[in-house]
Amino acid sequence: MEITWLGHAAWLIESDGKRVLIDPFITGNPSAPVGSEELDRIDLIMVTHNHSDHLGDAVKISNRTGAKVVSMFENVNMMHSDGLKQENGFGMNKGGELIDIGGLKVALVQAVHSGNECGVILGIGNKTLYHAGDTAFFSDMELIGEQFSIDVAFLPIGGYFTMGPKQAAKAAKAVKAKVVMPMHYNTFPQIKQDPEMFIQMLSGQRGIVALPGKTIKL
Ligand code: NI
Ligand code: MN
Repeated sequence: MEITWLGHAAWLIESDGKRVLIDPFITGNPSAPVGSEELDRIDLIMVTHNHSDHLGDAVKISNRTGAKVVSMFENVNMMHSDGLKQENGFGMNKGGELIDIGGLKVALVQAVHSGNECGVILGIGNKTLYHAGDTAFFSDMELIGEQFSIDVAFLPIGGYFTMGPKQAAKAAKAVKAKVVMPMHYNTFPQIKQDPEMFIQMLSGQRGIVALPGKTIKL
């Protein structure tokens, strides 16, 4: 599996010939290493909530590549109003089992934020990934870790809008992720954080500080 951070909360995941984007905030993202137009052959886009630094270029990329888009029901309706093709929108909600969309497995889980928020679970290849979206720490993250065997967790550490490093380290433990990567920090002045400090606070998980545009093989 290849994982590439596109800055902020945006990730490109590739495995078994499938390419998935999560929270594709590319245009206007000061740490995006690529332009929106360079993201081709996308099979699936997952959007954790409707804030512009997450929904980002989802509609534009889907309409260009034919990628399916998964998000909360109301967010997908909003994207249809913005021109997302009817056949590509998958408006879901939290709490279900993994469903199959073109050979990729997806589920939405709880998050504590605003903007019709959720976390997303992605089954790709033989791995299960958890992208927490923007969220506060909440103890029911333990239930997410019980329901899904999480190989990789992407967790916000920026504070101000989400949990900061200390709470994110608790989240990593709660969801029992094998590998943890911090996100949603240093994009803007309010969310300045030291990712190494977060990595040091982990107990039992392998922490990886991703660099925008540099691909990590797992
Ligand atoms: Ni947000
Ligand atoms: Mn955000």
